[in-house]
Amino acid sequence: MTKKLRSPLLLGILSLLFLLSACSPSQDESTAKRIIRIGHNQSQNHPTHIGMLEFESFIEDNLGDKYDIQLFPSELLGTQTNMVQLTQTGAIEITVASNSILETFNDQFEIFNLPYLFDSQEAYRAAMDDPEIVGEIFEGTRESGFVTKAWLDAGIRNFYVTDKMIEEPSDLQGLKIRVQQSPTNVRMMQLLGGSATPMGFGDVYTAIQSGVIDGAENNELALTENGHGDVVNYYSYTMHQMIPDEVIVNVAFLDSLDEEEEAIFEEAFQIMQDTQHASWKEKVEVAKETAQDKMGVTFNYPEIKPFKDAVLPLHEETLERNPTLKPVYQAIQQKVDEINKQMEGENEE
Ligand code: GCU
Repeated sequence: MTKKLRSPLLLGILSLLFLLSACSPSQDESTAKRIIRIGHNQSQNHPTHIGMLEFESFIEDNLGDKYDIQLFPSELLGTQTNMVQLTQTGAIEITVASNSILETFNDQFEIFNLPYLFDSQEAYRAAMDDPEIVGEIFEGTRESGFVTKAWLDAGIRNFYVTDKMIEEPSDLQGLKIRVQQSPTNVRMMQLLGGSATPMGFGDVYTAIQSGVIDGAENNELALTENGHGDVVNYYSYTMHQMIPDEVIVNVAFLDSLDEEEEAIFEEAFQIMQDTQHASWKEKVEVAKETAQDKMGVTFNYPEIKPFKDAVLPLHEETLERNPTLKPVYQAIQQKVDEINKQMEGENEE
């Protein structure tokens, strides 16, 4: 349905939103409520949408006389890059954007796109929950018109291809692999020996199906929720990245809230995040079973070290090119060590 909706209708929606942005904030004349538009690129069954529904209920229960939350899933408002731009201008208020995409808007986001930055999901989650680590990055885009109010789990990224199990980096040689539109991801693929093909998420299914690319890399939900499991045969746990999705919000909208409304919205963002995280944990397990049992995808677990060795130079390269990332990189390393120690302690008990 989404794919059919893109093109003429999408253009229509975008032009409408650009027109609306000229007279923002948008108001429903019949009810005098302010409309808050939220765009994302996932289906209505995805944890992200489930988090959004909780956000909508909470705001409408508490501020329903003033605000009308409208959700636009499935790239209805365009690709993530389009939606970030719409959020910057205030044409829409809220967007979910992969951290990958955001590095082209502010280079501080590069840090979370580094491959093998985290050893475990525990360390990744602890780092993302730590205001000392994420605080400045989330606030640092204020002048560009948006800030990050929540982070959503997008699991672990792994390779999946049509006709080859990836066992070692050399298996990627000569394969055209879709990556997100971010310089870090393109460089990562170069280091792994594959041929990086950047494109928006919504185009990946057709690109694999038509043979334009050999595969992609993403979490397990891409196989089920986005149907990629219908067009690939192998999913290989290289576990190369844990890249969060960021919930970005237009600054002018946030500044227009009074103190009481601001507190309610803050609570709603936390509820959205907590709901998404809980739903993620449940759905990712089911997705794996579904992909294996119903879609016929074969899963394999290659040795991680050769992949890690191939891409680790990217850490040094990035820190040399962008030394402002050094303090946060060190803070993340400390967090990873701390969590590793905690986990070792728990295992010994
Ligand atoms: C994940 C992530 C999305 C992102 C997508 C992609 O699904 O949650 O935000 O757009 O990966 O690879 O583009």
